[in-house]
Amino acid sequence: MHILVINGSPKGEKSNSYQLTKAFLEGIKQEASEVEIREQVVCRMDIKPCLGCFSCWNRTPGECCIADDMKQVIQDLLWADITIWSFPLYYFTVPGALKNLIDRQLPMLLPFMEEREGQVGSGGHPSRYDMSGKRTVVISTCGFYTAEGNYDGVCSLFDHLCGQGNYTTIFCGQGELFRVPELSAVTGEYLSCVEQAGREYAGGGISAQSRERLAQLLLPKETFEACADASWGIERESGGTGKNGGGTKKESDTLTFTRQMAALYRKESWQDRDIVLEMCYTDVEECYQIVLGKDGSHVYTDGFLKADTKIETPVTVWRSIAAGEIRGDEAMMQGLYRVKGDFSLMMKWDDYFGGSRPQPKQEQEAPAQKNTDMSIMLIPWIVLWVAASISRWQGCLLGIAACALVPLLYYRNKKTVYDVLSGVLVTGFCIAMLAGMSEKQMLPVSYLAFGVMWLVSCSGGQIPLTAHYSKNSYGGEEALQNPLFIRTNWILTMLWGILYLFTAVGSWFMMRSALSSLSGLINSAAPVLMGIFTVWFQRWYPARVARGK
Ligand SMILES: Cc1cc2nc3c(=O)[nH]c(=O)nc-3n(C[C@H](O)[C@H](O)[C@H](O)COP(=O)(O)O)c2cc1C
Repeated sequence: MHILVINGSPKGEKSNSYQLTKAFLEGIKQEASEVEIREQVVCRMDIKPCLGCFSCWNRTPGECCIADDMKQVIQDLLWADITIWSFPLYYFTVPGALKNLIDRQLPMLLPFMEEREGQVGSGGHPSRYDMSGKRTVVISTCGFYTAEGNYDGVCSLFDHLCGQGNYTTIFCGQGELFRVPELSAVTGEYLSCVEQAGREYAGGGISAQSRERLAQLLLPKETFEACADASWGIERESGGTGKNGGGTKKESDTLTFTRQMAALYRKESWQDRDIVLEMCYTDVEECYQIVLGKDGSHVYTDGFLKADTKIETPVTVWRSIAAGEIRGDEAMMQGLYRVKGDFSLMMKWDDYFGGSRPQPKQEQEAPAQKNTDMSIMLIPWIVLWVAASISRWQGCLLGIAACALVPLLYYRNKKTVYDVLSGVLVTGFCIAMLAGMSEKQMLPVSYLAFGVMWLVSCSGGQIPLTAHYSKNSYGGEEALQNPLFIRTNWILTMLWGILYLFTAVGSWFMMRSALSSLSGLINSAAPVLMGIFTVWFQRWYPARVARGK
């Protein structure tokens, strides 16, 4: 398969549109065998404008009188099975240099007038060469928030060149986002859709599902436009000239960066009160505030409010985080930045500034990820400890019933390995006691087993037990990638595990005392206190680390 890419962007390989083209080619290469690619970068070629002399039709048929690189382009066009036209949208059509190249294809046509099947407009010229079976792809980005309605001129041109709709298009709005490393998560996702489209194209044609995904905006209109406006670093009120006049860029880079971040704020994440986020760039000694409100965000450069959360970091660290070179939570663990005040914003950062791409309808309607619930694990144990210490027989029967019923009651929740393990262990202890084993031995052993289960989950790089449950409040599975979240949960899980080792020893002696029938209730007091401590520690410890302590 021979593929010719005609890159019509004045930026050459740095073109936004060319990034899409590269992804598309990647997809084709994955699917098709023996792919040979030639690329022509128009801005580096010598292609003069057509003189309109028609000598390629009369004096030297098929040969242009201008000696330049167009000769090679025509040879490549004849060689290619697929031609990919890759270019930015300029004034709702193709850039001038590319238009020159298109005009200079005249030698490929015969001069006669012809009515063609599926013809667009008033007439056409037959091709001098057999072009049947050749395919055309048009890939382009444009600057407005959507491609919709902007490509009428381009489509009209290619309808005339190839026959109505006889070509494949990928048109993408918000093209300038492809050069923003901070948004690589968003653009990367789009590029993987383009790659998928390339695979499908090589296998026959782009599917309706991929078409739908390609038509989705990169960022919502409002977010994109605010972000795009902020990127110029020029206040709208200055009339686009900057305060000094003459188009000078007035704002500092950090302020522009802050404004762009503010533009990415998702107001759907607003909860009951505005949040004042203060960004202090320690290397350049600049501070700005972003107020995250119900109706959007606002950047303050002076007249500061009382900050809820204050982040102190060199701007270089921010840029590395935003460019995806280092995760924000890892940077915090390495002490690269400090957070003062309310830490909860940091724990839900992606909810506030995710900048994620709106998903197609079906994907939006996909069922939400099921949450875990610690009660599924705890209830059987509590029933065993409280009920079996009061009455062995009834308690054990209740314990078995709890193991059977709790998963049914919590049928909406996702079950963890510890829920299953707890069910099996509690049932085992109950059966052992029903079979005659003494509760004086079995109950302390059950506390021991429970404690060991917690401690084992902290070993060998496993996810600590509590993390399986507390992740629900911190962004789900994503939280498990956060080293601070894992460390916090590791400490808590260790403490819980140790508590139950002590409880096992305590209950061994209690079961042999007058308090034996109350041991289950007495042993429940410590976990209640520990639960209160856990709630406090989950907030306190990450905030302490973030303060650089
Ligand atoms: C001279 C000029 C004209 C432009 N005209 C349009 C336009 O008509 N519509 C649009 O949406 N974007 C327009 N843009 C924005 C570009 O299409 C957009 O920045 C594109 O992503 C650049 O792609 P490239 O990096 O592949 O060159 C224009 C840009 C320039 C420089």
